[in-house]
Amino acid sequence: MTNTLTGKRAVVTGAGGALGSAIALSFAEAGVASIALVDLDSNAANVTAASIKESSDASIEVVALDVTDHDATAKSYQGIAETFGGIDISVNNAGVVAPSARIHNTHPDDLRRVLEVNFTGIFNTMKASIVAMRGAGGGSIVNTGSVAGFTNWTHNSPYGASKAAVIQLSKIAAAEYAKDKIRVNCVSPGTFVTSFHDKMPEGALDGVLARHPLGRFGVPDEIASAYVYLASDQTDWITGTNLVFDGGMSVGS
Ligand SMILES: NC(=O)c1ccc[n+]([C@@H]2O[C@H](COP(=O)([O-])OP(=O)(O)OC[C@H]3O[C@@H](n4cnc5c(N)ncnc54)[C@H](O)[C@@H]3O)[C@@H](O)[C@H]2O)c1
Repeated sequence: MTNTLTGKRAVVTGAGGALGSAIALSFAEAGVASIALVDLDSNAANVTAASIKESSDASIEVVALDVTDHDATAKSYQGIAETFGGIDISVNNAGVVAPSARIHNTHPDDLRRVLEVNFTGIFNTMKASIVAMRGAGGGSIVNTGSVAGFTNWTHNSPYGASKAAVIQLSKIAAAEYAKDKIRVNCVSPGTFVTSFHDKMPEGALDGVLARHPLGRFGVPDEIASAYVYLASDQTDWITGTNLVFDGGMSVGS
């Protein structure tokens, strides 16, 4: 992975979280010149920034942003593009999960929040990146989907539906912007244990583990390698794909 992203200017959302910080650190390791760490929680993004500084001289911008806010997102990305001189790579990864519930027990506030962050948020940051990339030579966009977007992932229907929407949105964007040399791909991880799983009922994680045939949960660092791959020029002829990184979970579902 070393130096596959030399000189690139990247933005990562959810950069204070488990997967987002692993992606940002992998990008720094792969040689990005500059990286914007976007998160609602700027303290968490600052922790990621401090880790990157230990081993990289990339320029770092920490951007406190709620990606559900369309206008604030547009303004922030315009600022990032001006500061870096452009955006080559955009990872749209910020996401939330609702408490486990079947449909009849799902609270409307949970439904709204999950759809707002996981779908509208990715739409907003993707749109703002496209604005920066169009007419500037193109770029690579990588969205975070999930196996929940195309398997029978029960007890969290807003989440699964939001991720199905992200996978489809990535395909549509790939077709709409190929002529602008903007590639749009998606990574759909299986389970890697994070704060997401704090809300799961006791014992439920054992059942989730049993659905991963390779017999273990994923690790953010290994999943981050898929983002480096899809962001790099090595995959210049890949667009509209959904790279499933799931320990075989979706094979049996
Ligand atoms: N953990 C898993 O098993 C798993 C599996 C498949 C996909 N995913 C997806 O991976 C992505 C990262 O998840 P994670 O497990 O690292 O979770 P995480 O909670 O560690 O990270 C999510 C980050 O998103 C940020 N965020 C939330 N709402 C935001 C908003 N409105 N604006 C800006 N930032 C916001 C949070 O502050 C947090 O830092 C999510 O899209 C998630 O759906 C996770």
